[in-house]
Amino acid sequence: MKKSIVYISVTKNTELLANTIKNQFNDVSYIGSPSDEALDADIIFVGFWAQAFACPQPIKDFLAKLDNKKVFLFGTAGYGSTPEFFNPIMDAVASFVPETNKIVGTFICQGKVSEAKMNAIKEADATKFETCLFTMLCYF
Ligand SMILES: Cc1cc2nc3c(=O)[nH]c(=O)nc-3n(C[C@H](O)[C@H](O)[C@H](O)COP(=O)(O)O)c2cc1C
Repeated sequence: MKKSIVYISVTKNTELLANTIKNQFNDVSYIGSPSDEALDADIIFVGFWAQAFACPQPIKDFLAKLDNKKVFLFGTAGYGSTPEFFNPIMDAVASFVPETNKIVGTFICQGKVSEAKMNAIKEADATKFETCLFTMLCYF
């Protein structure tokens, strides 16, 4: 069964998961950023980092292209570490997988977020950051 791994990663948390998956198999035909090349596989592992409690647009666009595939979703998130926090993110991402496909598994965990990164996010969009933090705190 042909396998491909598609992921995006800015600070390498999700990349670590992608490489860990790759190392479990010796028949991965593609690993890398979203590309039509990856569509030539029966099972596609799709990795994302959490953004706005879903995934970034390039992953949504890639998921929309999937047809009749087995799909394994994996991701990393920054602001929480509980099932209550993770599940809505994974559900949101899963909702972008067309119904002709079968989601065969999911995995999500908290990625490392440096203080510098947090500050950069805060400076880039203070209001959004506060909204994210507020939403996160509601889970505790
Ligand atoms: C612009 C931006 C938005 C983010 N939004 C969220 C979010 O909504 N929820 C969350 O848990 N983490 C959020 N994060 C944190 C990242 O999802 C987290 O650090 C992830 O592990 C990064 O993955 P990467 O190292 O593969 O890039 C955000 C990070 C950035 C830079």
